[in-house]
Amino acid sequence: MIIKSSLHLLGLVLNLAVVCNGGITSPFVRKAEKTVDMPYESDAFQVPHGYNAPQQVHITQGDHKGKAMIVSWVTVDEKGSSKVLFWSEGQKKRMAEGKAKTYTYHDYTSGYIHHCTIRNLEYNTKYYYVVGIGHTERLFWFVTPPEVGPDVTYTFGLMGDLGQTFDSNSTLTHYEENPLKGQTVLNLGDLSYADNHPNHDNVKWDTFGRFIERSAAYQPWIWTAGNHEIDYAPEIGEYKPFKPYTHRYNVPHKASGSPAPFFYSIKRASAYIIVLSSYTAYGKYTPQYQWLEQELPKVNRSETSWLIVLLHSPWYNSYNYHYMEGESMRVMFELWFVQHKVDVVFAGHVHAYERSERVSNIAYNIENGKCSPVVKDQSAPVYITIGDGGNIEGLATNMREPQPDYSAYREASFGHAIFDIKNRTHAFYSWHRNDDGVAVKADSMWFFNRYHHPVDDSTSSQS
Ligand SMILES: [Fe+2]
Repeated sequence: MIIKSSLHLLGLVLNLAVVCNGGITSPFVRKAEKTVDMPYESDAFQVPHGYNAPQQVHITQGDHKGKAMIVSWVTVDEKGSSKVLFWSEGQKKRMAEGKAKTYTYHDYTSGYIHHCTIRNLEYNTKYYYVVGIGHTERLFWFVTPPEVGPDVTYTFGLMGDLGQTFDSNSTLTHYEENPLKGQTVLNLGDLSYADNHPNHDNVKWDTFGRFIERSAAYQPWIWTAGNHEIDYAPEIGEYKPFKPYTHRYNVPHKASGSPAPFFYSIKRASAYIIVLSSYTAYGKYTPQYQWLEQELPKVNRSETSWLIVLLHSPWYNSYNYHYMEGESMRVMFELWFVQHKVDVVFAGHVHAYERSERVSNIAYNIENGKCSPVVKDQSAPVYITIGDGGNIEGLATNMREPQPDYSAYREASFGHAIFDIKNRTHAFYSWHRNDDGVAVKADSMWFFNRYHHPVDDSTSSQS
């Protein structure tokens, strides 16, 4: 009798554990080490040799469908040429001309920042390009994406909150060496962390640009604005938000009818990518709200199967850092995401990793008394926080306990992720912590497309 009662009690306790706890909190223990910026003289920040040599070269998609590229770089000795010479194997060389500008920030004056859009590119083609014409020329290359289509295979890399520390370098190296070979980076915002230094030391924007060149000059990085891009500092006379970011990082927002560079969309291969701004007004009647309201119905899933959203401040986050900061934006837009069957939402901001179940919080309203409003919802996106690029602020290690039901997997380690689209129904997603070998997947999941194959793909239902 006593044994039976004990077993009954044990059963209750175990059931309670299942009911109260969400997914997996990784027990992985990483080495606790100080996160510091790499020194100015680091190889990662090397200034290219030669008079007026272009530096901080980076590219991003330059139109809505992947047939143009924006090439950006900085010259410091003099303005020099804003022209880009480009060609593909066996084709005649073409020239495009961009523009250069400078900006001042407190006591800092930038170099000449050039942006040049090269257009009418062929799909799925390797292009070479040269910048620095007339002074020190530098040669780079990139491969254009395949033509947009529902079953096109394509591999995206994901990094957020990168910064420029030794850990940031480890994250970027790990991404570059990943055998899954990302073809385009989706960056979730918070780039240089210049604003963590006195007077928002804009030299840090330059070193960050030189740091990422080894990847960003050869494959496009798709940019999302984070809070460290705001650089609003009235105490030093800087009143224009996003000044360094918008001067340095151009995006093709006009191609998607967006009035501002903080929210826009692109099609790339089989993906439709919508970038939103957590730090640009999104309340009803605002430009971002109106743009997104018109944008979502335009997505044709027969053309682009996968609907991916990038934003900085996560909506579902179970760390005690930035907890519920994304809540007001979730309230505005979550219903639309469910209605339009967004496959996945990637965010940064929290310096750790977390993957959610497919959940929504749209059943609740202030009258209906539904006290547990977060429910499993197969029309909802998976929410992934990947703010673990390795910046100077260190890891977010403090989690809410018990792990909420919406949280499928969480771990406070630096890393990057890969979203590998196979066809219109399947994509393989994996997260790679820096502490492992490059081929190791610390967390992974087969995504089933919400439009073409909307069956339960949760890892908890598969286990
Ligand atoms: Fe952030």
